[in-house]
Amino acid sequence: MRKIQIGDCTLYNGDCYEVLKHIEDHSVTLVHSDPPYVVHSGVQKSEWYDRIGVNKQQEVLDNADISNGFDIETVLSELVRICKTPNYQLWCSKKQFPELLNYAIDNGYSWQDIMLYRNNALPNLNGKYQDKDYCIHMWKGRKITGEYKDRVTDYHWNIGGKKEWNHPALKPIEPTIHMLKVGSDEGDIVLDMFMGSGTTGEACLKTNRKFIGIEKNDEYFEMAVKRIGKVFDCLSENDIKLF
Ligand SMILES: C[S@@+](CC[C@H](N)C(=O)[O-])C[C@H]1O[C@@H](n2cnc3c(N)ncnc32)[C@H](O)[C@@H]1O
Repeated sequence: MRKIQIGDCTLYNGDCYEVLKHIEDHSVTLVHSDPPYVVHSGVQKSEWYDRIGVNKQQEVLDNADISNGFDIETVLSELVRICKTPNYQLWCSKKQFPELLNYAIDNGYSWQDIMLYRNNALPNLNGKYQDKDYCIHMWKGRKITGEYKDRVTDYHWNIGGKKEWNHPALKPIEPTIHMLKVGSDEGDIVLDMFMGSGTTGEACLKTNRKFIGIEKNDEYFEMAVKRIGKVFDCLSENDIKLF
């Protein structure tokens, strides 16, 4: 496990199932994370599916190891220990939504669903493509924060086009910023145990939150270090402490 500190951002290069065990009890205010989705369109044997890129998209997600979900029960039981009070914003696919929602209901948490619509996605009635992302914010023993404008529950964005960070599951920064404000205050610690390219870290820096990020893929970890370093405006090697 590698650890890099950039200002108030602590970045771990390792498997979150292991790294989470080392995070202090009741230290984190909010978990905002975009875990691997369960996305199986299956190989579509028609030329049409090849042409519109469904098989290619599945291949990219499979190669990045982000199409088989995560162990919800194990991760959530660590989060209960790590968080001051339960307070999780978890992105998910349609197939993961029921398990997460049932967890919130069974534990007596308050919850809110948040949708991120992909404006230019293909119609998805047959479930073969992803046209929206689901997020459940579940919490207990705290109040929602942020301003009226932050308490949005549906977001829209255009997929495709050139992106600054080349991660196959890049999330847009604006919704992340609003959501952090709803779930935490300035100075609080926010955790993302499936950090990817570091979108949550960038949002934390821009909203004065402290950040703990975990990413197991070396390439994506380096991307996050570069991105967070760039935002922090301290790319010089001297300012990045290596542990
Ligand atoms: C859906 S992506 C997150 C993308 C991120 N929201 C962004 O905007 O870049 C999930 C990430 O979790 C990472 N991951 C998967 N399993 C992991 C694990 N056990 N521990 C840490 N990271 C993991 C993947 O490598 C991937 O980068």
